[in-house]
Amino acid sequence: MNHIGIGQKLISKVEDVTPVVLRAMAGGSDRRLRDLVTSLVSHLHQFVIETKPTEAEFEYGLRWIAALGHHTNDFNNEVVLAADVLGISTLIDLINNDGMQGETMSALLGPFYRGESPLCASGDCIARSATPGPALHFSGRVVDVDGTPIEGAALDVWQASPVGLYENQDETQEDFNLRGRFRTDAEGRFHFVSVKPAGYPVPTDGPVGDLLRAQKRMPMRPAHIHFIVSAPGHKTLITQIFADSHEALVGDVVFGAKQQIVGDFVRHDATDPAYPGAEPPFYTCHYEFRLVEGVSSMPVPPISGKKG
Ligand SMILES: [Fe+2]
Repeated sequence: MNHIGIGQKLISKVEDVTPVVLRAMAGGSDRRLRDLVTSLVSHLHQFVIETKPTEAEFEYGLRWIAALGHHTNDFNNEVVLAADVLGISTLIDLINNDGMQGETMSALLGPFYRGESPLCASGDCIARSATPGPALHFSGRVVDVDGTPIEGAALDVWQASPVGLYENQDETQEDFNLRGRFRTDAEGRFHFVSVKPAGYPVPTDGPVGDLLRAQKRMPMRPAHIHFIVSAPGHKTLITQIFADSHEALVGDVVFGAKQQIVGDFVRHDATDPAYPGAEPPFYTCHYEFRLVEGVSSMPVPPISGKKG
């Protein structure tokens, strides 16, 4: 249906554009889509009217958006990275996960979740190839907001190598290095071995890197381990456990760090019978994940493969 009817004047000045465009978008049966697009167009038009971009600036902006697509492939997702460094992902996260029911705070999925990582037994090590860094024994429990253990909860774990790259970015790392899936026991407990995470730079060889350099922003993320914790009847928790200084947390290029999900990483300078085989110095961290009742679902992985 044509909403620009007979007798309606054609566009002749700036003020004419937004009402005409909104009228053209007023159809369709999907009300939510109409609300979203109407608001998006209204805000975009207002942004353009306020900032008055030159034609050259407009062309540059369109090329920058197109470059996000050109730099997105099986092992890199520049679109997700752009949403992250613009703070949009953190806004979406906080709007949808406010932690007000006592559940563990969530954090960004990020651009490097692959899905379908190897199923592991409790206590397995997820370093599948020579990986620098002191050993880390990470243990914890998964409970509901009342503290009742959740048996059979699934934990999907992934982290960057301390060289600063996820395995999908690095041909020298074994497939699925520093990735694994675990299940809790009858007491809700889990345990895995890895290396202590280190901070790393987000990829800067694409349009996001161009933006960060122009803004003189550091591309660094504080050290962290990613978790997706899921169980039937519970809202899936997507989060990160941080292991870094306050300065690094504040400087997180994707604005993802939250105080509640900073882990207590304890350094051990002597052997400990509680951790047989752990050569000092090594680290331990214990964290209790709290899930709220809800629908269990898994996110679509932003990447599916590995470089090389
Ligand atoms: Fe990460």
